[in-house]
Amino acid sequence: MDRKIAVIGAGAVGATLAQRILESGIADVVLVDIAKNMAIGKAFDLLDAAPMLGHERTIKATDNYEDIRSSRIIVITAGLTRKPGMTREDLVAKNAAIVREVSNNIKEKAPDALVIVVTNPLDAMTYLTYKTTGFTKQRVMGMAGVLDGSRFIELLADELKVPRSSVKTLILGSHGDTMVAALSHTTVNGKRIQDVLAKDKLEKIVKRTCDRGAEIVSLFGTGSAYYSPSAAVYKMITAILDDTKETMAVSAYLEGEYGLKDMYIGVPCRIGKNGIENVVEVDLSTDEKSAFLKSAQAIKSSLELIK
Ligand code: APR
Repeated sequence: MDRKIAVIGAGAVGATLAQRILESGIADVVLVDIAKNMAIGKAFDLLDAAPMLGHERTIKATDNYEDIRSSRIIVITAGLTRKPGMTREDLVAKNAAIVREVSNNIKEKAPDALVIVVTNPLDAMTYLTYKTTGFTKQRVMGMAGVLDGSRFIELLADELKVPRSSVKTLILGSHGDTMVAALSHTTVNGKRIQDVLAKDKLEKIVKRTCDRGAEIVSLFGTGSAYYSPSAAVYKMITAILDDTKETMAVSAYLEGEYGLKDMYIGVPCRIGKNGIENVVEVDLSTDEKSAFLKSAQAIKSSLELIK
């Protein structure tokens, strides 16, 4: 295997991510799940599609962490999803136990890997992974703002009837109800969003973006979003593998940046072959700064629950 990515959790997000990785041809996949037969079934199903799609990538499903050895990147999607009406914070205790177990295995079997965490509540689970693996802060990051930003762009482009590519934005803070859509960094064809969209409409779209995960959860009935979360991880993986040094919002460990210390929170970072190459400090408006600090407070409360 020249390039191997381990995906822990063969559920909706993990399996869809495995599909994206295989079918784009960027790497082979090891899919790990305690529900071994389910994972093997999904791997067989993905392999059966390969001759039609014309790729030579392989996937191995397993419940044995020996198989993650030599993986360049490991993505943690193992965990429970939110049920309707459940907040991400409700998940803390259950998912913390799972993420701790997974992280101990990563530390032992793949000590040189980069880790991308997807399991919610995201910022707390990424912090837990960082502490449990003992890896450098560059090598542990969480998937958050890439997805939230994409959701915001989609809703704005749809409202304004403009190409998605004409909208730029930045979403920082917690990957949760207190996320901060930085309007000072949101533009449409280079124009400030406030100059192209009425305040009330903009507020509604910001709110819908924050609630988008929950909106999808309640439409599904069971399970939570997976097409867009897996796409966000895919985007982060390609930035690492191709060493693009692209700036994107990820959950990163802060040591004084944005006035915060010893926590993971969504901020813009340059992503390249080393993982988080550096945190990018952008100017925020006074309102955005205080919303960001409020968001940090929410993450700290969920950290208290796992400490
Ligand atoms: N080790 C390995 N796999 C596990 C473990 C464990 N200890 N515990 C649970 N799993 C597996 C389950 O067997 C299941 O296949 O994790 C998978 C989770 O899949 P889904 O329930 O389909 O959840 P998914 O939609 O993929 O979301 C995973 O990502 O977006 C977040 O909030 C979401 O925390 C959730 C995670």
